[in-house]
Amino acid sequence: MRKGLSNTRTEQFFTQSRRTIYNNKYNSKRSATNNNKNKSFYVNAAKASSGKFVVGGNWKCNGSIESIEKLCATLNSGKITADVEIICAPPMVYIDRVQSKLKPPYQVAAQNCWVGKGGAFTGEVSAEMLKDANIPWVILGHSERRSLCGETNEFVGLKTKYALDTGVKVVACIGESLAQREAGNTLKVCFAQLQAIADCVSEKDWDNIIIAYEPVWAIGTGKVATPEQAQDVHAGVRKWMSENVSAVVASKVRIQYGGSVNAGNCDELAQKPDIDGFLVGGASLDGDAFVKICNSAAHSK
Ligand code: PGA
Repeated sequence: MRKGLSNTRTEQFFTQSRRTIYNNKYNSKRSATNNNKNKSFYVNAAKASSGKFVVGGNWKCNGSIESIEKLCATLNSGKITADVEIICAPPMVYIDRVQSKLKPPYQVAAQNCWVGKGGAFTGEVSAEMLKDANIPWVILGHSERRSLCGETNEFVGLKTKYALDTGVKVVACIGESLAQREAGNTLKVCFAQLQAIADCVSEKDWDNIIIAYEPVWAIGTGKVATPEQAQDVHAGVRKWMSENVSAVVASKVRIQYGGSVNAGNCDELAQKPDIDGFLVGGASLDGDAFVKICNSAAHSK
């Protein structure tokens, strides 16, 4: 009974969300048709982002009060010399503490939030709560949530739209598995993930989205994508954005690379024209390494 009840509520929720999104899309598609007339010109014009280099630290489900306070102290005492935006994502229970400890330029992010308005969703945190707690960013669609928690492309799209509408900016993660790469499907997978987001959001919404390209095979494995491999996908993503969203968005949107970024490989990766920042997991728990990675922004083009 209970299961049936909750399914019905969830279905109602999704039907409602889809209807709203469809209506929004219908209106925005009409204006997109006009923009598409110049599409082929813009495809060739897709180029590196004009936005500020942005480095995220995804602390995942790691740390304790003690280790996190130490990490904040190291980050605060490290010298950020580059022009860079920095976003640290501690575990939910520590965000408030971290936010009160970290000094600018550090900002904070949540690692996830619920797909809609809060309510009877045990264990979840709503975008309204993040907004209320002055948490400006949320990471959505991380591959660990896709693979371990069953989040689909469509679900990530809906979450992205809901967070943005609530006033929380989104780091939206995409990326292929090793099997998908080996089958030659890297771009196809990334584009499907992007399409599900683009289906839900308006052109204007992209101002508040950072795309994080994180090949699953490079996450936490120590096996970093070569700068060329990363650049190829980033350029492909930007071209896709130009063709499917708009040239203006493609030229502004920031695309982070994530997957075994560390203090030793960041400078070389940062030089690639379409790499506009990093999303860092393991190395973000080492304050000195993370400061070095943030400062690699000085090498960006
Ligand atoms: P990693 O993780 O840097 O430990 O590979 C990156 C991420 O999952 O965001």
